[in-house]
Amino acid sequence: MEDTGNLTWQQVDLTRADRERLLDQQAMTIWLTGLSGSGKSTIANALERRLADRGRHTMLLDGDNVRMGLNRGLGFSDEDRTENIRRIAEVAKLMNDAGLIVITSFISPFRADREMARAIIGDAYREIYVATPLKECERRDVKGLYRKARDGEIKEFTGITSPYEPPEHPEVRIDTTGMELEDTLEYIWKCLF
Ligand code: ADX
Repeated sequence: MEDTGNLTWQQVDLTRADRERLLDQQAMTIWLTGLSGSGKSTIANALERRLADRGRHTMLLDGDNVRMGLNRGLGFSDEDRTENIRRIAEVAKLMNDAGLIVITSFISPFRADREMARAIIGDAYREIYVATPLKECERRDVKGLYRKARDGEIKEFTGITSPYEPPEHPEVRIDTTGMELEDTLEYIWKCLF
């Protein structure tokens, strides 16, 4: 898989900086990580809306959607999750090269995988840890998956039968328990912009 021996990186004229200038914005990747049901997708969606309302050019990459397209066929073993995150990080980087502000919403449970994403994406990477505790995520059980995981119907479910390694130094940490979406957004916005 790692055979890049006969490849030469092709220089192109237009740089990320050129494209950023055209769009009049600084490209970045806002990487949301946290348990299923922690609020990642809700935050990602509202954050993108707010950015668009302010004239920023964005793209949102969301777990379930990407797994139905680009990453169809990947499951939830440790290896598949790593490959899921690697591809998303590469896509986010390309979109940053296009000058876009990218928001990603993936559990991304493994510290090493998030560090890989940070390495691929570089300085544009901003990690937001949606730190809603398992108890609250399970109480919400928006998709009914925690119940299925407890009943043994889903294997390797994050937080139940597969680990989640909390970030140690995220740019932003937010627990959404009892929080209004608007307040959550306001907090993240102040931290990032
Ligand atoms: S990740 O671990 O590889 O980052 P990702 O965010 O893409 O996960 O996908 C998580 C989504 O897949 C969850 O929100 C949930 O809807 C669904 N899902 C299905 N099976 C599992 C599982 N075993 N563990 C976690 N999420 C699962």
